[in-house]
Amino acid sequence: MTTDVDTARALIVSALDRTLPSTSEIAQPIVDVMRHAVLGGGKRLRPLLAVAACEALSSPLEDALPAACAVEFIHAYSLIHDDLPAMDDDDMRHGLPSAHVAFGEANAILGGDSLHSLAFQTIAAHAQLDAVTKLRMIELLAQAAGWAGMAGGQCLDIASEGQALSLGQLQLMHGAKTGALIRVSVQLGALSATANQASEEQFLLLSEFGDRVGLAFQVMDDVLDVTQTTEKLGKPAGSDDELEKSTFVQLMGVDQAREMAQNLVSEALALLTRTRLDTTSLEALARLVIERDH
Ligand code: IPE
Ligand code: IPE
Ligand code: MG
Ligand code: MG
Ligand code: MG
Repeated sequence: MTTDVDTARALIVSALDRTLPSTSEIAQPIVDVMRHAVLGGGKRLRPLLAVAACEALSSPLEDALPAACAVEFIHAYSLIHDDLPAMDDDDMRHGLPSAHVAFGEANAILGGDSLHSLAFQTIAAHAQLDAVTKLRMIELLAQAAGWAGMAGGQCLDIASEGQALSLGQLQLMHGAKTGALIRVSVQLGALSATANQASEEQFLLLSEFGDRVGLAFQVMDDVLDVTQTTEKLGKPAGSDDELEKSTFVQLMGVDQAREMAQNLVSEALALLTRTRLDTTSLEALARLVIERDH
């Protein structure tokens, strides 16, 4: 039994809302940044992947809500920092002013920091999971978020502005800045399942599925940056070109980049088949990655 994507998204958004603080005696502006960044919008792909991985293991969606919130908190923090003047200097996100535009740079940085902390706090506080599982989840999430994952990839992204990267270097960069968090979303969802545990082989297949989907997702993000309008994206179109970013589109053009994303998703779907699990929702989400228009 798998939950349809709209219902799952609504449950995720209400869990995010519940888990976020709403008032603070000492730091209300930071709380405002956190709520603006998380509840302002977004497709919720990472939390949807987490709950779909959990359901693939015949476990209730609710098991994975803490993991789903944790990955979305890390994601939202990464976007706050990504938009800062020191990084991509983008003033719009989800059709709203970016966090630093709405609340000032210092509050945006601190709000991002606080979402990072809240992610780990949320996993630690999961009432249904044992301590060993939670520790493994925390370790995997820390690896995916830090210097060897998202933050590391972002460092390489900034350093590569105006440079011509090879295909291999680009894959490495995208795999780290975007792929790592998408991979860990699937992993944390699987580890959250209380009814059934993934075998080692299934866990590996799900992780590799996450890698392929993660890379395809960033390739499509690069494609959409040149093919869609700012209105549709809710963030400034053409931002990559303006900053001379190293992207798949810049390296191989729109058509070939799109084809590459499609091939990655086909590989991802083939990996799912080998798990012998009911992966209907994971399949649908993988397809969404290449079919989306924003
Ligand atoms: C945008 O991610 C940043 C990337 C890693 C490409 P999303 O496109 O998932 O952002 P939202 O949350 O849906 O706005
Ligand atoms: C950001 O990539 C990846 C992150 C880790 C946040 P982009 O810079 O391409 O994301 P957008 O296009 O601003 O959403
Ligand atoms: Mg960026
Ligand atoms: Mg950006
Ligand atoms: Mg982009």
